[in-house]
Amino acid sequence: MTTSADTPTLRSETREQPLDQLGRGISDLRISVTDRCNFRCTFCMPAHQKYKFLPRPQILTFEETERLARIFVGLGARKLRLTGGEPLLRAEIETLISRLAAIDGVEDLALTTNAYLLADRAKDLVAAGLDRVTVSLHSLDPVTFGRINGLDLPLDRVLQGIDAAVAAGLGPVKLNVVVIQGTNDHELLDLARFGRDHGCVVRFIEYMDVGTVNAWDPEKVISARQIVERIGAEWPLEAVDKDHAGEVADRYRYVDGGGEIGVITSVTQPFCGDCSRARLSAEGKLFTCLFSAVGHDLKSPLRAGESDQELATRIREIWSRRTDRYSEERTAALRAGRFVPADKVEMFRIGG
Ligand code: GTP
Ligand code: 5AD
Ligand code: SF4
Ligand code: SF4
Repeated sequence: MTTSADTPTLRSETREQPLDQLGRGISDLRISVTDRCNFRCTFCMPAHQKYKFLPRPQILTFEETERLARIFVGLGARKLRLTGGEPLLRAEIETLISRLAAIDGVEDLALTTNAYLLADRAKDLVAAGLDRVTVSLHSLDPVTFGRINGLDLPLDRVLQGIDAAVAAGLGPVKLNVVVIQGTNDHELLDLARFGRDHGCVVRFIEYMDVGTVNAWDPEKVISARQIVERIGAEWPLEAVDKDHAGEVADRYRYVDGGGEIGVITSVTQPFCGDCSRARLSAEGKLFTCLFSAVGHDLKSPLRAGESDQELATRIREIWSRRTDRYSEERTAALRAGRFVPADKVEMFRIGG
């Protein structure tokens, strides 16, 4: 029903924002700017595999990325996150950041990085308009760190990158830890302590069956419940409400005031119900789920001259048909003993 409080602007905005088949809108756009990475993490891009990367002409230009981002913001996206592969490998990423930061309606502009190249770049990223970074940090032991990154790359550089990000004001700096039984689960307390000491929010991620190359084994998943129990036994924790509906992490605060942690429960308690994240690959495909096998090509119509309006209509139609709830389906299948690995896009092509 229309009331006198409904301004024409509000009504048209509401009409423009699509809802999918499960009533979910678009609140975040995650933009992968390259499929290349300087790491070969065992759980994402194992070093023993050969990879074919996108040729330059197939990758969206900054102009094209900005244009699509503006359209997504028009459709409801308020948070933008740059991902890769490793986004700091994309030449002059600062230029793209300043273009995205200038879009009216963007409330949060973040970047997910392995931080290997971050120490020298943190100040420039801030100057360009980046709000914050999330750093992937899966171990504090140099040997384990080198083993996980697949190339024996030094931990020190990443730690310097984290310090530089904190000093430059790219906070709250979040640290993503993928927890894998037998690989780094003995380091939970060390990682939590590091977060407390450095003023970073550590987010422990349940090991997921992303992509097709990481030989995922459900036996190696450490549940968020176990993680919270182990850390809470050392430093008592209390649950904190989510910052916003659709937030990926469950949040906990240290009772002693030492900051907070997050746990991402994609395997044991999937959160598809309010998933409002759209993902754009470096080659301009829209993925409506992290676990989709195929993306929807936006680059071809864009390069063929479609108007913003036409592209928006195209995206609205794709989103309106969306029924994705992979993690819920996978977990139900695991519990019923009928889990069969499916074909999916690789993590490094859409950035997690
Ligand atoms: P904040 O705004 O900082 O909270 O960012 P975020 O919640 O988007 O966090 P981030 O991008 O760091 O995501 C953390 C991790 O959660 C990712 O690296 C993925 O492993 C996982 N993740 C993020 N989004 C999804 C999702 O939609 N589905 C699933 N299954 N996992 C996700
Ligand atoms: N399971 C959970 N998280 C993963 N990531 C990469 N591979 C996996 C996986 N198999 C994380 C990265 C990074 C983010 C982009 O996704 O460590 O923090
Ligand atoms: Fe590791 Fe991230 Fe690179 Fe994948 S994209 S190999 S998770 S650093
Ligand atoms: Fe969203 Fe797919 Fe993740 Fe579910 S599995 S939360 S639908 S991206």
